[in-house]
Amino acid sequence: KSVPVVTVDGPSGSGKGTICKLLATRLGWHLLDSGALYRLVALASMRHQIAVDDEDSLTVLSAHLDVQFKTAAETDGVHVVLEGEDVTSTIRQEEVGKLASKVATYPGVRQALLERQRIFAALPGLIADGRDMGTVVFPDAPLKIYLVASAEERARRRFLQLQKRGADASFAKILQDIQARDAQDMNRSVAPLKPAADAVTIDSSELDIDAVMYEVEQLLRERE
Ligand code: C5P
Repeated sequence: KSVPVVTVDGPSGSGKGTICKLLATRLGWHLLDSGALYRLVALASMRHQIAVDDEDSLTVLSAHLDVQFKTAAETDGVHVVLEGEDVTSTIRQEEVGKLASKVATYPGVRQALLERQRIFAALPGLIADGRDMGTVVFPDAPLKIYLVASAEERARRRFLQLQKRGADASFAKILQDIQARDAQDMNRSVAPLKPAADAVTIDSSELDIDAVMYEVEQLLRERE
């Protein structure tokens, strides 16, 4: 029996993570957070003091990455363990995300992570969150979503999130970071961020989470 896969690609801050988690929970399917893998390579490279331009060492590191994804109680979400240490929140740091985007430009790193991502496809189904899920990793997925939102709206959401946490944040700086990340992810030569030819684009700029979920669930039903 073939494994149903729903791919959700899009830029940072489009709401992919939230939508994918909700979908996986509602359907009882597996979840692949592919960005976490690139973040793990970035964090491991910092810890092993591998230079950001040392593609060969980064490729070897990616191939041998000692990681585990632990599914804890539903409310607690997935825990990410690197070399025996829980790094679930560490990999979310802005610094790690930036470096992840850089190491993700290397073909060797992407190739090394390819099989690691494909083994997530298991029954009853998989929700795959990333940049190249529909174009490269799961090209045969029956449902591909490309979730976008304007850079300003994504920056606004991030700003509010940080404010809520009591962090001091600058909207202008956040917007600048988002635009830089978009440019890096869209303009790289290997597996750039772009919609698959058969992807359905959803613009969440003016939609809340419920409205996006409604559209995605509608598309899922149509394909059943
Ligand atoms: O989605 P997240 O922000 O965690 O991803 C971090 C970085 O990893 C992205 O900016 C992108 O450069 C890279 N990435 C990628 N391909 C994926 C997922 C993430 O290149 N499938």
